[in-house]
Amino acid sequence: MVDEEILHLLKDHSPGFLSGEEISRRLKVTRAAIWKRVKHLRASGYEIEASTRTGYRLIRSPDLLTPFEVKPLLRTKWMGRKIHYFHSVDSTNSMAYQLALQGAEEGEIVVAESQKKGRGRLGRKWFSPPSSNLYLSVILRPDVPPQQASLLTLMAAVATAGAIHKLSGLRPMIKWPNDILLKNRKVAGLLNEIHSETDRIHFVILGIGVNLNMDEKMLSKEIRSLATSLKREMGQSVSRKAFLQTLLEELEIWYETFLKDGAPPILKAWRDRAQIHGRPAKVISFGEVLSGTAIDVDNDGALILETTEGERKRVVAGDVQYQLKKAVT
Ligand code: BTN
Repeated sequence: MVDEEILHLLKDHSPGFLSGEEISRRLKVTRAAIWKRVKHLRASGYEIEASTRTGYRLIRSPDLLTPFEVKPLLRTKWMGRKIHYFHSVDSTNSMAYQLALQGAEEGEIVVAESQKKGRGRLGRKWFSPPSSNLYLSVILRPDVPPQQASLLTLMAAVATAGAIHKLSGLRPMIKWPNDILLKNRKVAGLLNEIHSETDRIHFVILGIGVNLNMDEKMLSKEIRSLATSLKREMGQSVSRKAFLQTLLEELEIWYETFLKDGAPPILKAWRDRAQIHGRPAKVISFGEVLSGTAIDVDNDGALILETTEGERKRVVAGDVQYQLKKAVT
């Protein structure tokens, strides 16, 4: 807390200096204690000039996702107004789930600089190195039947793709069910979890992982050819704070659209970004391999596939690989 108070004072006086004596008077702590906190802030990435004559001056703030750094940037009405920030956490989704069980409200978010047990879809791991990507979980409490929960996954995919587009100018593609790709490589993934009874949702956790500034060499050989980051595709680092701000705005807009107008606008935006109609596809679902042509996504998010045998199948979970279209000669 003292760290934040020191930062507030230095920010208010930036680009000028504030004497150690003045800070110690205002915060009612010793000058030695302030020096200790300043050293700690420097270790977290704050560039603070210190001079025995003039005091302290904030020169540059790091790209951290702390409430102190993120809150002044927020333009949302309610989304992300309460931030639970962690330097490191097992999984932001697990943490958000616990907080929601304890009564956390709609729009509260969990962010972490790194995850020790980041979780992906279908029991996979999500690679979560420190301070380079975004690991976000949003708590929602929609008053809709549980059958509509998968629409929230589509909604979150549309919002995430929208934020990537706005911030980078690049056109991400959504790959069923909810991978976000840039140039055919995965840049973001979603893991949404629901707590409900048969006819009522208690809460939904939207878990969103976006590879922002991760370098290719940080990736294991197995995923190197499958994954990418915004930095790699743009050729420059992105501000994680600015990305979080944009993503929260998109999520607020699209979630309010869903509550007001229901499925149609979400499905339309999802279809525009996914472009699946008529694509030859191979789907692996619960160990079964299905080949055919992707037709559409159903109102509940299921993939409709016309198999090579001419049968229409609804696939509710799995992985899809799009095949190249055969050239017509
Ligand atoms: C996938 O594509 O397999 C989904 C990946 C989801 C990763 C995010 S990172 C934030 C949140 N916390 C987790 O443990 N997982 C999700």
